[in-house]
Amino acid sequence: MSVAVITIDGPSASGKSSVSRDLAAKLGWKWVSTGAFYRGLAWVAMKEKVEVTDVPKLVNLCSDPLWSVEMRDDKTAVIWRGSDVTDEVFSEAVGEKASQVSQIQDVRKALLQAQRNCAIGVLGLVAEGRDCGTVVFPQAVLKVFLTASQEARALRRAREQGADVGKIQASQTERDNQDSTRTAAPLQVPPDALVLDTDHLSLLEAVEKIHFDHRFFRRDIGS
Ligand code: DC
Repeated sequence: MSVAVITIDGPSASGKSSVSRDLAAKLGWKWVSTGAFYRGLAWVAMKEKVEVTDVPKLVNLCSDPLWSVEMRDDKTAVIWRGSDVTDEVFSEAVGEKASQVSQIQDVRKALLQAQRNCAIGVLGLVAEGRDCGTVVFPQAVLKVFLTASQEARALRRAREQGADVGKIQASQTERDNQDSTRTAAPLQVPPDALVLDTDHLSLLEAVEKIHFDHRFFRRDIGS
């Protein structure tokens, strides 16, 4: 039987991870931050001194058994040589590198199946990222697109990371621009997505709204 998937796409720091985590907990489902695949690859490439321009080596690294992505209730973890390196992988600096490697079509192709595999053997899946509703899980029962103002997003990440808000905003603006204008699976609002502006919603309100839409407006899935 097909597994139900809800996708949550949107720009950086729009609240995708917190909303996905709490929604998955409410539904008793798993959740995955698909950015962890691109961040993990970028981080491992930095460790292994592989240039972001060396596409064949990057593609090989995608299936290197030395690193993996694990779905946990509180986070999507990146494991490298048996160590949990998630905190480093989710830094703003690695986010910038991740955005660069995610431009490469061959890299996206090489990471696609691993993302889809997250929906195997689970009751249901909340998947967040940039192209979850358009490319990774086009059959999703509900597609959500989260937005928030640049200021609110920068402030959110700066508070989380104890970093300078101006620097974070500059980095996010560049990353959003790269993620939306690339030719390979750019960030875009999936047709028929529920669009939510999180500037005007608390985390709980956003989760409740998506949960409501899932109960009453979801698409049927084939078996
Ligand atoms: O959501 P995030 O900030 O962890 O993602 C890091 C980068 O990974 C993002 O700038 C673009 C890329 N990404 C992507 O191209 N497709 C996805 N589904 C998720 C992330």
